[in-house]
Amino acid sequence: MRFANITGWGKCLPPAVLTNADLTTIMDTSDEWITSRTGIRERRITHVKYSELAALAGKRALAAAGLKAEDLDMIILATAVPDNMIPNGASAVQDQLGAKNAAVFDLNAACTGFVYGLSLATAMVRSGSVERVMVIGVDGIPFYLDWTMREVSVLFGDAAGAVIVEPSDTASGLLADKLGCDGDARDILMASDSGSVRERFADTVDGLYAINFEGQEIFKRAVRGMGFAMNTVLEKLEMKPEDIDLVIPHQANIRIIETLAKRLNAPMDKVMVNIEKYGNTSAATVPVALCEALEQGRIKPGDNLMAAAFGAGLTWGACLVKWGDRITPLGECDDELPACDKTALELLQPWVDGSRKANEV
Ligand SMILES: CC(C)(COP(=O)(O)OP(=O)(O)OC[C@H]1O[C@@H](n2cnc3c(N)ncnc32)[C@H](O)[C@@H]1OP(=O)(O)O)[C@@H](O)C(=O)NCCC(=O)NCCS
Repeated sequence: MRFANITGWGKCLPPAVLTNADLTTIMDTSDEWITSRTGIRERRITHVKYSELAALAGKRALAAAGLKAEDLDMIILATAVPDNMIPNGASAVQDQLGAKNAAVFDLNAACTGFVYGLSLATAMVRSGSVERVMVIGVDGIPFYLDWTMREVSVLFGDAAGAVIVEPSDTASGLLADKLGCDGDARDILMASDSGSVRERFADTVDGLYAINFEGQEIFKRAVRGMGFAMNTVLEKLEMKPEDIDLVIPHQANIRIIETLAKRLNAPMDKVMVNIEKYGNTSAATVPVALCEALEQGRIKPGDNLMAAAFGAGLTWGACLVKWGDRITPLGECDDELPACDKTALELLQPWVDGSRKANEV
């Protein structure tokens, strides 16, 4: 039987760090509130285009897999922040990588995008229609935020993570998944005028997106959606929670992660958590957490990893990945992002000023 193993992995975190203390200088909040309600201490703000974060994560994943960009048949870019709507964001990544043999497209499933993308890549590799696929999760919800809304602005950061999926004869890679979406609740987490419903040339049009955000309802539905998806995956594989070696959950709120762990009866040392460093990086949380779990030696050959995510849509999903034999990269990529000469607060200032101005109107 043909399987679809993960053979390469890479991440890219922009260097500018926005701490909770920084946020107290632009809004009425506190480190104590943010840390106790969310588990987040700091997040990153990018000084380059999102495609550049994605391409560098992709280059690192290629090096880890021992492949060249030309070897890729497909690039799936899970993102809500393509550099342009026309053409797609994935074409910018293809161009920067030089992946001239790859078909490319964007996948928008918000924070669940990487899990959706991995599922699709796996199905295509297993079917034999492609050989080598790069799946990238890159996001930047800070771009959409109204920086006067403290209940939302403290949660998000920028990042990218990527994996390479290749055929394998042994049972490895994504073995089962469950994906879904509660479209009836799509308005509880929404940049409501971020697409073609936005009236062009209207007097009210400015740089601000209208954000709908019902935190507590999202919280409940996140636990329900991810819990259901994880249980369904376990049932499909006739596995028990104790068969999972490491849970790699979406990093939206430490309390959501702890509630899920309790439901699975998993001790927290079997759960990958890095939310304190990066906040919610949407489609990038799962691949970045996967990379860090490997770097920290928390994944052994043959381990059963359960990834789960939820996000705007309200999309949700989970997948069981059986890790292959190799837990170290075949090669390293020496490329770095260009140096950043601004602080995170300086990078944010135009968005903060713009949000304040738009709210005064
Ligand atoms: C957003 C979230 C952290 C809010 O936590 P909460 O415990 O539900 O807090 P509440 O919204 O009830 O607000 C409690 C109080 O804190 C205040 N508050 C909100 N944001 C604040 C901030 N950044 N700093 C200080 N106080 C804040 C509120 O105004 C409210 O004050 P009040 O009691 O005087 O009215 C939580 O609901 C959450 O994480 N939800 C999931 C959202 C999510 O992850 N979305 C992304 C999906 S991918």
